[in-house]
Amino acid sequence: MAVNEPLPGTSDLWEPEVLDWINLEKQARNIFSRYGYTELRTPIFERTDVFVRNLGNETDVVQKEMYTFQDRGGRSLTLRPEGTAGVMRAIANKGLEQGEEARVFYFGPMFRGERPAAGRRRQFHQVGVEAVGSDSPWMDAECIAMLVHFLAELGIHGSRVLLNTRGLPEDRQAISQALLDYFQPHSNALCEDCQRRLSTNVWRMLDCKNPACHEIALGAPQILSLMGEASRTFFAEVCAGLTELGVEYELAPRMVRGLDYYVHTVFEITHPGLGAQDALAGGGRYRISLPGDKRTFEGIGFAAGMERLLLARESLGLQSPPSNRTDTYIVSLGAPAIPVGLRLAGELRQAGLGGRVKADFSNRSLKAQMRSANREGASRVLILGEAELSQSSVICRNMTTSEQVTLPVGELKNWFLQA
Ligand code: HAM
Repeated sequence: MAVNEPLPGTSDLWEPEVLDWINLEKQARNIFSRYGYTELRTPIFERTDVFVRNLGNETDVVQKEMYTFQDRGGRSLTLRPEGTAGVMRAIANKGLEQGEEARVFYFGPMFRGERPAAGRRRQFHQVGVEAVGSDSPWMDAECIAMLVHFLAELGIHGSRVLLNTRGLPEDRQAISQALLDYFQPHSNALCEDCQRRLSTNVWRMLDCKNPACHEIALGAPQILSLMGEASRTFFAEVCAGLTELGVEYELAPRMVRGLDYYVHTVFEITHPGLGAQDALAGGGRYRISLPGDKRTFEGIGFAAGMERLLLARESLGLQSPPSNRTDTYIVSLGAPAIPVGLRLAGELRQAGLGGRVKADFSNRSLKAQMRSANREGASRVLILGEAELSQSSVICRNMTTSEQVTLPVGELKNWFLQA
């Protein structure tokens, strides 16, 4: 690794990519606010137990991926690996009246110590939403439809909505036993992770990506068929809601997702433009309780990887074109012209004229400064030489048409407004 490279799995973000990120956030605000969601910003680190308790002690995220450290007071803190737990902590802190709902969206960096690959970063960014306080399946349908709406607004076509249910906690034990009975005889053929999961997290074996495990999982009992009436009815209503809203989805009976807080609905959206890490977004209904707090909050939400949204857009040829670094370049010839150029640049910016304005303070030759103006993509150049200084005028060059005029400084505004 070269000495100044960012750490593996992290990156520096430059324009024009930054513009794509800003656009993504703008579209998210625009769409989510139409559904009554407001923005929430929570800290990037939390007490470790906020995550461990809800994501689940046996999940890959908690077992292998969290950036956990002790602060100077000996507290265990963790850089947030996802947004939901912190958002729930914030909602619990603010309090929710009986029957009250909170609908929030958020953006920001998340941290997981995963092996970096295309679309898999150690610092990545999510745009997510959480709707807390409604236990209605119709809410799940609306939430998924909102995500589909958001993707359509971003021009991301060709994605698949995969849907499943984990049912209610009271169904869990019987299902876990049935899965254990099924997987146990295959234990020798399973990957190392799944051998461990046999005793810790047997559900997760259903969607293990290892080819041998996947083959075995194909024959596992369908969890939906082992669920009670209440879970199955809830799921049927989510499906009915999606149909009502015209959302196309596919049932994914072995998708259980990697976090333990889910109950009922789970879903993922995949996109073919992403390659191996094809999950654009994931979410579901959850129940979360915070350490030291007896209340349980139920909600539905999702998060989409912002890097992956941009990769999907790129695969469809939708990224922003490279932008110019400068629109108006002020060439100052000779030392006395430099402060005049400095002032002129300031006046243009104050007046909102000339877009990105840059004054050259280098005192180089005309040729050298014009070369810089070209390199930066400037569409207009203002030239201040000795003669112009003495007459309070400026040479104005339109770089697109190569037209050049000398104007009194007072007439610059019209020149900018004309072309
Ligand atoms: P998740 O499936 O772990 O869910 O992450 C959601 C999305 O974040 C993924 O679909 C993917 O696009 C992106 N993502 C995850 N890990 C990485 C990574 N290492 N590099 C790049 N992108 C990544 C959650 O985080 C839940 N909190 C979602 C949720 C909200 N469920 C309910 N509410």
